Amino acid sequence: MTSILVTGGAGFIGSCFIRYMLKKYCDYKIINLDALTYAGNIENLDDVKNNPNYLFVKGDICDKNLVKEIISKVDCVVNFAAESHVDNSIKNSKLFIKTNIDGTFNLLELAKEFKIERYLQVSTDEVYGSLDSGYFYETTPLAPNNPYSASKASADLLVRAYYKTYKLPALITRCSNNYGPYQYPEKLIPFFISKLLKDEKIPIYGDGLNVRDWIYVYDHCEALDMVLHKGKIGEVYNIGAHNEKTNLEIAHLILTSMGKDEKSIEFVEDRLGHDRRYAVSGDKIMKELNWKPSFSFDEGIKNTIDWYLSNQEWIEKVENKRQVLYNENSCNGC
Ligand code: NAD
Ligand code: DAU
Repeated sequence: MTSILVTGGAGFIGSCFIRYMLKKYCDYKIINLDALTYAGNIENLDDVKNNPNYLFVKGDICDKNLVKEIISKVDCVVNFAAESHVDNSIKNSKLFIKTNIDGTFNLLELAKEFKIERYLQVSTDEVYGSLDSGYFYETTPLAPNNPYSASKASADLLVRAYYKTYKLPALITRCSNNYGPYQYPEKLIPFFISKLLKDEKIPIYGDGLNVRDWIYVYDHCEALDMVLHKGKIGEVYNIGAHNEKTNLEIAHLILTSMGKDEKSIEFVEDRLGHDRRYAVSGDKIMKELNWKPSFSFDEGIKNTIDWYLSNQEWIEKVENKRQVLYNENSCNGC
């Protein structure tokens, strides 16, 4: 019997991971610790909420007493919990420092104290910065360009230090851009779908020629399972699927699927510090752990667009929740 603390399991990738793990390992216990920020939706896991091997705890990874209580009961930790949207980090980075760095620090301290068997930090290819040519390898120097990626890189360095200094059995993964069901409609693909459903224009930053390397969320989760079980302690594994696309290519694909044309595109001011290109080499995970993605881009993107079109209520619900949280947290006249 293995028990795993999954943090941030009510978000996009974490919810897919929990669903995947509960299905694959019927004797594993999973505790999902999630603060349910605007990006976390417990309904994402409605289909497993009655599974006896699953427990949800609402709480913050920075809460030492709560994390202590949970960590004392598990063998492994998989840390997804994060503030994850670059544009938010550019507007206000404070929460990114708190959750992504302080939160990781808290988990590491307690993982050390309770002698956790495996600690997996779910990181991102954004820590490597931007590429003109070639690929990101695990040996590429870290060069984050925005507060979000800087906070993720900082967390990665802490994880590395806990492995080197205290022999904490830690692993780090760095994945490229995920797409799939349940992604919060602030990220490129669901945001554009949501805008078009409202007959609004889709904002393309700059010239639209920035490149992202896309991977279907299910493939990412499968790779995480592989690294958690078979990865070599202390190592970093990149995860990618070699699907480089410009933002304009993605926009056109969505426009066509939704019966719209380029009249719905609006070129807007560029994102500050906008990384031009990401491209991940997955050679290491493929060679050492024998993992490769199962979904072609065509199949994954079709599933994804179909899912959003069939789940418009979900989009409305999560967008409304954000508005409610925003109103609750606004300071009236103080
Ligand atoms: P998400 O924003 O959809 O989900 C984040 C989850 O973390 C939410 O459920 C939120 O409620 C929870 N959370 C936030 N702060 C918390 C806190 N202090 N304590 C507990 N829970 C908290 O993010 P995602 O896209 O699913 O990304 C998950 C992880 O994967 C992140 O660490 C991100 O950096 C990493 N990642 C994402 C991508 C991508 O393309 N989305 C790619 C590579 C890596
Ligand atoms: O590479 C992995 C990273 O991918 C993850 O670590 C992040 O958590 C995740 O948010 C994502 O970061 P990006 O900044 O690449 O994703 P985003 O969806 O915000 O933007 C994708 C590209 O689309 C980027 O070049 C900016 C552009 N864009 C985005 C939005 C929201 C637009 O042109 N218009 C938009 O409205």
